[in-house]
Amino acid sequence: MAASGTVESGSFSLESYSHDVRTRVDRALAEYTAFGSGCPDHLREAIRYSLLAPGKRLRPMLVLMAAEACRGNRDAAMPAACAVEMIHTYSLIHDDLPAMDDDDLRRGRPTCHKAFGEGTAILAGDALLTLAFEVLARDIHPPAVAAECCRVLAQAAGATELVGGQADDLNEQFSSGQLETLESIHRRKTGAMFLVSLRLGALVAGAGAAERTALDDYGARLGLVFQITDDLLDVRGDAAAMGKRAGKDSGRGKLTFPGILGVEESVRRAERLVTEARAALEPLGPHAEALRALAHYVLERKH
Ligand code: IPE
Ligand code: IPE
Ligand code: MG
Ligand code: MG
Ligand code: MG
Repeated sequence: MAASGTVESGSFSLESYSHDVRTRVDRALAEYTAFGSGCPDHLREAIRYSLLAPGKRLRPMLVLMAAEACRGNRDAAMPAACAVEMIHTYSLIHDDLPAMDDDDLRRGRPTCHKAFGEGTAILAGDALLTLAFEVLARDIHPPAVAAECCRVLAQAAGATELVGGQADDLNEQFSSGQLETLESIHRRKTGAMFLVSLRLGALVAGAGAAERTALDDYGARLGLVFQITDDLLDVRGDAAAMGKRAGKDSGRGKLTFPGILGVEESVRRAERLVTEARAALEPLGPHAEALRALAHYVLERKH
């Protein structure tokens, strides 16, 4: 999280926490994508090129932080942390395709289809989407928890949530919609993966109803803040820091928060949501320190 400085709160440092998590997650992701000889070299390279690129690993962090907030074991949640990052990366590869946002820069590198061709990029996304469920089914224990993890992740990534939000985002019919339409798109295309990351951590930790409700209240707001900030960075962010192009949403006629509310009101809305998100964590007490710090980071981030 170096770009936005260290987020310190008491003795907790989000910078060192996130560095540690990124190292562990990246190692696990590399192992999961070594693949046997049945995987063509070109496909393996494309998958690893996108997955192991320097993403922020926010969703894996949410899985692990939620597990800890519910007094669970971080290592037991690692397969779920990797699964959400696989789904997220697949969604980025497909989001960047010419038929979608047609972008050429991602995570500071040429997009997957620019580097490997469209066909291979589509297939790399397909492989990551399916690998996520293989990892959950095999490596989350006990099997009943693994099955529930598969169910909630499939729902969050599917036609009513991530894919549905992406479909509406592409639909020109919604390019001049109202705030409710925009929030509904953002909640599905981005928020659902934030929410499910927290739910997976809670599931692995065997969280109780009060803990799950607190995480849901936090996650629903955090996901929205994250996409509002993404929209704001598209307007006023720096491509070099972000590792992706800025200023593309308005040219494409995308429905965005600054587009509807203006920059200042969008910032105020994001600030309000972060205050509410942090308040929602109250029932979790000091174990939720990392999640509290992350909410602040998501608001202040520069990439
Ligand atoms: C970008 O997500 C796509 C959106 C949902 C807005 P991130 O900003 O988390 O991307 P990486 O993982 O750090 O590259
Ligand atoms: C992407 O939203 C959301 C998903 C990939 C599910 P954006 O299209 O706004 O993301 P960026 O700005 O390209 O990262
Ligand atoms: Mg998009
Ligand atoms: Mg995009
Ligand atoms: Mg964007």
